Amino acid sequence: MKNKTSLMVLPGIADVHVHLRVPGGEHKENYHTGSAAALAGGITTLMGMPNTAPPIITMETWQTAQKKANNESLCDVALFAGASITCMGELPELGRHAIALKLYMDLTYGELRVDGLDNLARIAQLWPREKVLALHAEGDSVKTGIDLAAKYHRRVHFCHISRKEEIEWISDAKKQGLSVTCEVTPHHLFLNEGDAKCLGSLGDMRPRLAKQSDVDALWEHINSTIDCVASDHAPHTLAEKQNSENPPPGVPGLESTLPLLLTAAAEGRLSYERLIILLAVNPRRIYGLPEQPDTWVEVDPQASYIFPDHELYTKCGWSPFSGFPVKGRIRKVVLRGKEVVKDGIVHQYIR
Ligand code: NCD
Ligand code: ZN
Ligand code: ZN
Ligand code: ZN
Repeated sequence: MKNKTSLMVLPGIADVHVHLRVPGGEHKENYHTGSAAALAGGITTLMGMPNTAPPIITMETWQTAQKKANNESLCDVALFAGASITCMGELPELGRHAIALKLYMDLTYGELRVDGLDNLARIAQLWPREKVLALHAEGDSVKTGIDLAAKYHRRVHFCHISRKEEIEWISDAKKQGLSVTCEVTPHHLFLNEGDAKCLGSLGDMRPRLAKQSDVDALWEHINSTIDCVASDHAPHTLAEKQNSENPPPGVPGLESTLPLLLTAAAEGRLSYERLIILLAVNPRRIYGLPEQPDTWVEVDPQASYIFPDHELYTKCGWSPFSGFPVKGRIRKVVLRGKEVVKDGIVHQYIR
């Protein structure tokens, strides 16, 4: 007799850190392909990053991009505004419309970056208190970010935290009662610097993959300091990654995040309850994302397979996790009462 498979129902996932590459990088990803990849991965809401070309740093660029996103996306998309020194005057108006502000303190892909304590302080004061200021901060920049939260009594969210000392600083800041939150990525939870060597440019991103002791520290904080898991889906083409002199940093992740976390849950490294908090409840709470009625993801938590089990929807077409044994398959995604994914097929996707 065949075992009856017991399916599990999760709320729609909210991925708060995604690069959709519109405008200027549409050969890597666009709203249609990126949102299809999101749905295939059980993600029904995503937040798009502003490090595009040109970057989304004015009300005009933000509005044009958000309108296009609404028209072309298969899931719900909320776009960040980017902080820049040149367009600081745009912040009050952007603050009325954009979901949150992203500020790059350290060098990464794209031209967006703000340095200088004075500039950081001005931005931290100009951005509305009730909305989140999200930081790309590595090392000492994390400390500076905590200081901004303390000094200006404002909400600060740390993107892709990856090092033991950083997660410990954030843990301390939370104990002091500061309004800080943080996310970690699946690649920093499941890969280390040894994998970076094997993967070459396909394992290169910012922050870089870390030591196993850093990875272990993240897992130690998975039920406490870490508020959410976000993919930092950062698609670049295989040609750009493998055939260029200076390969751009970043790896795709929309379609691997849920299978990887389901695998960790199946192995007992985190509970299914915590998985739901990290992927759905906290991301929506931190950014005030609207609820999606009649929206859910049906998974088979017992299904073992080699990732990916379908042709990837991300336009870049590759994953650093190809060949990974995983346990947990997405069977169906329902968005506002309508079935949008069934067994790896995104119904509205047009190739
Ligand atoms: C991101 C990208 O490609 O836009 N790259 C990355 O390595 N994470 C930028 C970023 O999130 O810092
Ligand atoms: Zn307005
Ligand atoms: Zn970043
Ligand atoms: Zn990113």
